[in-house]
Amino acid sequence: MKAPKYVVKKGGKYWPSNAMKKIANMTDKNIYDKAAKNPVKFWEGVAKEGLTWEKEWDKTYVEKLPYFEWFKGGKLNFCVNCVDRHLEHPKRIAMIWVPEPTGEKPIEITYGELYDKVNKFANVLKENGIKKGDVVSIYLPMVPQALIAMLACTRIGAIHSVVFSAFSADALKARIEDGKAKILITADGYYRRGKPEDLLKKAKKAAHKTTIKKIIVVNRIGKRVHGKKFLDFDTELQIAESYCKPETMNSEDTMFILYTSGTTGKPKGILHDTGGYAIQAYQTCKWNFDLHPGDVMWCTADIGWITGHTYAMYGPLLAGATTLVYEGGPDYPNPGRWWKIIQDHEVNVFYTAPTAIRMFMKEDFKWIKKHNLSSLKILGTVGEPIDQKSWMWYFNKIGGERCPVIDTWWQTETGGTLINVLPGIGPFVPTVSGLSFPGIKHVIVNEKGKEVPKGKPGLLAQKSPFAPGMLHGVHNNHKKYVDTYWKKFKTMYDTSDGAYLQNGLIRITGRTDDVMKVAGHRLSTAEVEDAIHDNRKVGDVAVVPMPNKIKGQVPIAFVVLKHGKGSKKLEKKLKKYVDIKIGPTARPARIFFVEDLPKTRSGKIMRRILKALLIDEEPQGLMTLVNPGSVGKIKEIIKANQ
Ligand code: PRX
Repeated sequence: MKAPKYVVKKGGKYWPSNAMKKIANMTDKNIYDKAAKNPVKFWEGVAKEGLTWEKEWDKTYVEKLPYFEWFKGGKLNFCVNCVDRHLEHPKRIAMIWVPEPTGEKPIEITYGELYDKVNKFANVLKENGIKKGDVVSIYLPMVPQALIAMLACTRIGAIHSVVFSAFSADALKARIEDGKAKILITADGYYRRGKPEDLLKKAKKAAHKTTIKKIIVVNRIGKRVHGKKFLDFDTELQIAESYCKPETMNSEDTMFILYTSGTTGKPKGILHDTGGYAIQAYQTCKWNFDLHPGDVMWCTADIGWITGHTYAMYGPLLAGATTLVYEGGPDYPNPGRWWKIIQDHEVNVFYTAPTAIRMFMKEDFKWIKKHNLSSLKILGTVGEPIDQKSWMWYFNKIGGERCPVIDTWWQTETGGTLINVLPGIGPFVPTVSGLSFPGIKHVIVNEKGKEVPKGKPGLLAQKSPFAPGMLHGVHNNHKKYVDTYWKKFKTMYDTSDGAYLQNGLIRITGRTDDVMKVAGHRLSTAEVEDAIHDNRKVGDVAVVPMPNKIKGQVPIAFVVLKHGKGSKKLEKKLKKYVDIKIGPTARPARIFFVEDLPKTRSGKIMRRILKALLIDEEPQGLMTLVNPGSVGKIKEIIKANQ
């Protein structure tokens, strides 16, 4: 059978076809105006319809800036919304797990089985002293136990803090300490490009001399684990009681902490609540990805990032759909792996980052062509701006010119997508994200918060009432919350992104602060600088992002040594410092040893100048420097080392 065509081309633009309009959960373009008339009422309506509440709220929205509350007085359990309420169809598949080794069979977990495992694991956590409000650290690769552990936390009201498994022991330790986590759930390892990777070693090192009382270990690569502190995930599951009563949670209770990079050396613990986050995840899955019960969604993001939380784990379950989770490397054992997975498991919605698209564009098309991708209905992108060429390639080669490409803009802080085109409404325009989700309003403003003329570039800000999925603070750091998001515009949320309007649709231009996006991963230049500074030979350091064809950006470090000369050996050593403190994801692509960094009179390093030098542009504003002579010398060093 010929695969349905979900888009049509009209007036040089792509729009939803009749086939898409027939199936789409939302096709009414007036929804934007309707929701804008009374956004609070809009969210009240969708929250009543979309979620299962134990008790409805007394007040839908209470704002006392810089904080705001959604569904105040409302009571619900998140796990019940993801699992229990779908038990009318216990045989429906909740998760398809694809292991990396091709000799291992994929595993399908039904909603009935998931219910059983989550209840049991919730009891394991309780047995080990975890109560409502306690923090549980999760340091797991992409294995089914990650979903079970996360859901079990939400069942008993424990706050999960998931840490990306490629982060280092030091990075994990800092997050354990900040959250005062009592239990760490990890694995002995995982498979990456055919090789088992050790995770336990890092986990043990991180947990040493912290608040962690027990380490629960998933056996993935067959390592033996000994010691009083350690429990085996699957053994504990087998002996646990089979029912765990879900904890009644207030809508505003914290559900999870997720650390993200900002402009300082220390990551921030972003706090997300229960009810608001749930409705943002649910509604966006329903309207952006048009998820229907039984649909298969594959979001390729790791659970260590917000995209993994909301769209690889929770959103599809809230919608009663099936989530596909793949353990391993995208091109292992060959560049056809992802496309084979889509074919074998009949994936309907595929959501990935532009960096992955750019990586596959380099490969021979034969790897795609030999697979049947006709199950696809919607393609999504996230994490960084997507250029025209990559958008068209994705649309043509993966979507077969049949599927809309939904470019979703959002952040760790927003919990769920906020700006994109809806597949049942359109238009789908390369490089343009689209409109704010119904019931949400963004404006493009100048530094003073005044709206810039239409089409002019400015700063992206969100207006009240703030989206239900938005962060509810920074863990233990009110000041940071205020300074980062509210200081600039006071009554509007500062996204730190630049944007402009293109024919009425929002086009994102990227971060306006010192945050980098490296292969879609959010990293701060300050964190990398901190790590390099730890070496006693380093006197001064500046890290800036440099454009990269595949990864979008890569970090480049400029180092001034206290004494002596730089060498390849020292460069290697300093890179190791970054591996140890953060993880290889943040490792600088190059380290240049320079005599001096361009600084202003007040001692501020002018990173802008370094950025210009890296892309061979003439740097502006040299007059403000105390040491303008440094610029020419750095230029020479870059040239000589290219
Ligand atoms: O700069 C924006 C970029 O990613 C940042 C947020 O990163 P993180 O918190 O890691 O969350 C990523 C996934 C939600 C934003 O401030 N960004 C995200 N999506 C897009 C984007 N830039 C352009 N287009 C997008 N679709």
